[in-house]
Amino acid sequence: MALDWLCPAPALPAWCRDGLSLREAAAAEMDAVYLMGRDAWGDGCGVAEYLRLCRDSRKYRRGRWHVLTAADGGLLCAAIAYRLPSLAGRLTLGLGSLATAPEARGRGHASLVLNGLLQAYRRHCRAEVFLLFADIDLRFYQRLGFLPLPAALQPRADAVGMALCAPELWEPSMRALAERPLGYF
Ligand SMILES: CC(C)(COP(=O)(O)OP(=O)(O)OC[C@H]1O[C@@H](n2cnc3c(N)ncnc32)[C@H](O)[C@@H]1OP(=O)(O)O)[C@@H](O)C(=O)NCCC(=O)NCCS
Repeated sequence: MALDWLCPAPALPAWCRDGLSLREAAAAEMDAVYLMGRDAWGDGCGVAEYLRLCRDSRKYRRGRWHVLTAADGGLLCAAIAYRLPSLAGRLTLGLGSLATAPEARGRGHASLVLNGLLQAYRRHCRAEVFLLFADIDLRFYQRLGFLPLPAALQPRADAVGMALCAPELWEPSMRALAERPLGYF
């Protein structure tokens, strides 16, 4: 898989509210971060094998991992952010690997992480276009404003590429994607 176009998204200041913190993941937390999504992406792997695959993943090393933590420091949710080649001349970021610890699901943590990252990247880095691939029901991402890419720009059958940007950036961004397809990340 050629992933040369993926780079870590810029760093963000930590954000804290009501005892929750959204911050960059520490190296020592990465195994716990990887395990949050094992039920979805583990494909029957045992813990040790799954961790080996995640630790060796070039894709995972090419992004910046963010975590949401509880007041006691416990990890609740995580996501990765990439800097992508710019679309329509605007800073374009990719988000992915969103996972909430199984025991903490259904409490709004993933929505908070996505919203927090969107707001922070807009505010601190002036990011204007966001892309992601949905493995789950699109409505989860549509609630946050993401729209599916046109069918001709979908690189995979098993995930739906989606984008979020200001309405006036949609057409130029889609044209740029058509000229330079990014592929799945
Ligand atoms: C998807 C996931 C990140 C949601 O985390 P969460 O913290 O529970 O999310 P929130 O509480 O913010 O939102 C909950 C909503 O997520 C949606 N959702 C959760 N799991 C879903 C799934 N497998 N398919 C479709 N929608 C799902 C539901 O709409 C749910 O709304 P409801 O509570 O009204 O039913 C979590 O279920 C998870 O880690 N799953 C495994 C990894 C994964 O599949 N990640 C998504 C990659 S695209």
